[in-house]
Amino acid sequence: MKKDWFQKRVVDLAKLHGYQKPELHSGVLKLDSNENLAINKQFQYDLIDNAKKKSDVREYPLGKIENLIQALSKYLKISPTMIGVGNGSDQILDLILANFATKKTKILTSDPTFGFFEERCKLYSIPTIKISFTKDMDLDLGDFVLNAKNADILYLDSPNNPTGFQFQKKELEKLIKSFEGLVIIDEAYGEFSDYSIINMIKTQQNLVVVRTFSKAFGLAGLRLGYFVSNKNFVDVFTRVIQYPYPINTLAIEAGIMALQKIKQMNEITNLIKQERKRIIDNLRKFGVFHVFDSKANFVLFDVEGADTRIYNALIEQGISIRKLGKIGSHKGCLRVTVGTKEMNSKFLLAIRDLLQ
Ligand SMILES: Cc1ncc(COP(=O)(O)O)c(C=O)c1O
Repeated sequence: MKKDWFQKRVVDLAKLHGYQKPELHSGVLKLDSNENLAINKQFQYDLIDNAKKKSDVREYPLGKIENLIQALSKYLKISPTMIGVGNGSDQILDLILANFATKKTKILTSDPTFGFFEERCKLYSIPTIKISFTKDMDLDLGDFVLNAKNADILYLDSPNNPTGFQFQKKELEKLIKSFEGLVIIDEAYGEFSDYSIINMIKTQQNLVVVRTFSKAFGLAGLRLGYFVSNKNFVDVFTRVIQYPYPINTLAIEAGIMALQKIKQMNEITNLIKQERKRIIDNLRKFGVFHVFDSKANFVLFDVEGADTRIYNALIEQGISIRKLGKIGSHKGCLRVTVGTKEMNSKFLLAIRDLLQ
């Protein structure tokens, strides 16, 4: 190998975009990252206070992840042998790609799909077969079935980020059953949606369902993700692939306590679903946007050529949403995260003012 191979690799990697984080604006209402701002701050204070009491961070968290897995097992009603964890679901997805995909492995997914996943495929030079959304931001099952035979891995975020689309349960089940390679279903927004396919792991040996505490539980800053799969995969992932201590002690303890507060989480999740409907209905009433249905905690809408203007005007009003631009035939897409009633009203009023 030539002596300058390292510099060349750095130059090559520098050509990649990497995951595009939202712009950082201080003091604004953050409706740009699908976080859960509707869950009150006391929820996290309780978890962190409790975690502090239970932790001694001079020690490695030996044996602690096992306690979190027990708590997850109760929540999901799935054997602990079929559950693993990660430093956010990002890390789980990354480690699966790094260890199960190569430059020759073809991944079948939607276009758009979760941005981090797409960037990771680019980083590892993994080829993708992308199925576009229709004009109404739906996916066609037939397109996936048709392309399945050419693919080794199927990745779907269900619901999809950024569109909010989710297949009908029967359709997704059919697709998973027909796919012969590895199937990764990312249910980061599962709690806001109509269904989960988590129970399919009891019969589908090739299925990994990835989930997170970042969305419904409102704990994005703790970086806690988990997955459910067959025992052999979980064993290999946990014992061989995963780092010895992927999650810090405080996050583990906070996660365990969060799972004792399911009632509170469910109440907020229901509120977010109601507010999602209010945002969709109101945006549609303005009569100038193309507003898409959503099964997640955000709403995608196309403002045609006006996306930059509306995005900047909202920033001036102290509201940050996500500018996505062109998606398929839609020229100027924006995505807003559902917040508290007050936050959502502030957003809707700002849009109304802009249109006057
Ligand atoms: C579809 C999807 N999967 C995974 C994640 C990442 O979740 P985590 O915070 O657990 O890494 C996100 C975050 O936005 C997401 O949209």
